[in-house]
Amino acid sequence: MDVRTFWLAGRSATGETELTVTNPLDGREVGRHSVPTDAQVEEAVAAAHAVAKEAAALPVHVRAEALAHVARRIAERAEEFAQLITAENGKPILWARGEVSRAVATFRFAAEEARRWSGGVQRLDTEPAAAGRLAYVTRVPYGPVLAITPFNFPLNLVAHKVAPAIAVGAPVIVKPAPATPLSSLLLGEILAETDLPAGMFSVLPVANDRASGLVQDPRLPVVSFTGSAPVGYAIADQVPRKHVTLELGGNAAAVVLADADLDWAAQRVALYSNYQAGQSCIAVQRVIVEEPVYDAFVERLLPAVSALVTGDPADEKTQVGPLVSLAAAERVEQWVREAVEAGAEVLAGGTREGATVAPTVLAGVPREAKVACEEVFGPVMILQRAASIDEAYAMVNDSKYGLQAGVFTRSLDAAFRANRELEVGGVIIGDVPSYRADQMPYGGVKDSGIGREGLHSAMDDLTYEKVMVLTGLTL
Ligand code: SIN
Repeated sequence: MDVRTFWLAGRSATGETELTVTNPLDGREVGRHSVPTDAQVEEAVAAAHAVAKEAAALPVHVRAEALAHVARRIAERAEEFAQLITAENGKPILWARGEVSRAVATFRFAAEEARRWSGGVQRLDTEPAAAGRLAYVTRVPYGPVLAITPFNFPLNLVAHKVAPAIAVGAPVIVKPAPATPLSSLLLGEILAETDLPAGMFSVLPVANDRASGLVQDPRLPVVSFTGSAPVGYAIADQVPRKHVTLELGGNAAAVVLADADLDWAAQRVALYSNYQAGQSCIAVQRVIVEEPVYDAFVERLLPAVSALVTGDPADEKTQVGPLVSLAAAERVEQWVREAVEAGAEVLAGGTREGATVAPTVLAGVPREAKVACEEVFGPVMILQRAASIDEAYAMVNDSKYGLQAGVFTRSLDAAFRANRELEVGGVIIGDVPSYRADQMPYGGVKDSGIGREGLHSAMDDLTYEKVMVLTGLTL
């Protein structure tokens, strides 16, 4: 099997050691990649630092064309990407293809946003003392971005960091998740086809314990991290003076109000608690159902859960595949066991075979159980009854996390109330919290993170506002 090279300042490079990536379902070898040495990591950082001024001054058409090229080439090689994601992550091919389409859109949106990225002017002659003065306001990149990316979307969550960085003219160094580095290395192949200057991007598949040096390097003023809350906040604590963006976890709630379309709600909750084996920060974990429709909803939900096709992720029909590793599946199983020991009832699933956990529905889960208050990151949902809308919304907010929430209702009033009251970064009305359009602002409050992704928002996030005041003008 060929050994994949990594990307050092835009060129393919080989280190002195190799690592093997395995398939979560059966442990077979999926590929091998070369690992950068310390000297090569240093070279990538120095190159990013050296090119930062040139990158910020790159004409918009160069950035936009590079991004559009990447979008086109991912689309041309879509099936290759999808098969690779499935092989290294265990994500069913159905979802892997969806991820690839999203990555195409992410780069395309970035190309479009780059062209709209024009700054603005502000008249200052609103006061007599500023007659003839005008402010020209632009946004300037902080500088090179360190992008630490997770295993659960090995392509699109890399795209969400690389694309806006290129769009604003910031060099970017990607440190992919050790479990799933191959998709980002393949993306590097496409980035290397562009006319971006050397140093504009590197993809460095190093072990997690080597990330700390990169995090602390002053030549990388921005750290953009997606992953778990403890790791994210440890990064922020290490570098309090850096610009740190954290996209962290959640225990997302779907609220089913009494006026909801119960068939639709049951189908969506069943699927999006279990898609990617629950390994999404916005997978449905807590299902809060208004009392009058609780039984009718559960009657619809359980058949929808048992109809999900679990199995080999390479199979076109599979909807629920393995978790990323055996250890991850064992942890989820352990959390379910703890909840059951504390009094929870298993309505579906609760079993594990290798790295695959059966879609699991629990009821009567104590508030303190990990499956209720921590992020499960597995195919497990808990059902909770709410006596009223007030109680339902209070239950959503009874969490240390606040990423997204879904509210199934037909009432505009309940929708706007959810938007006012729910302590989350995104409220999805009429659908699950798992809905994400790649151009929309995405990020959390409370322990779910700091900052926003989504192309326009991420471009804002990677830059600061700079104002130039012109004086002596006749306006
Ligand atoms: C995440 O897990 O935070 C990303 C979810 C998505 O992009 O759909």
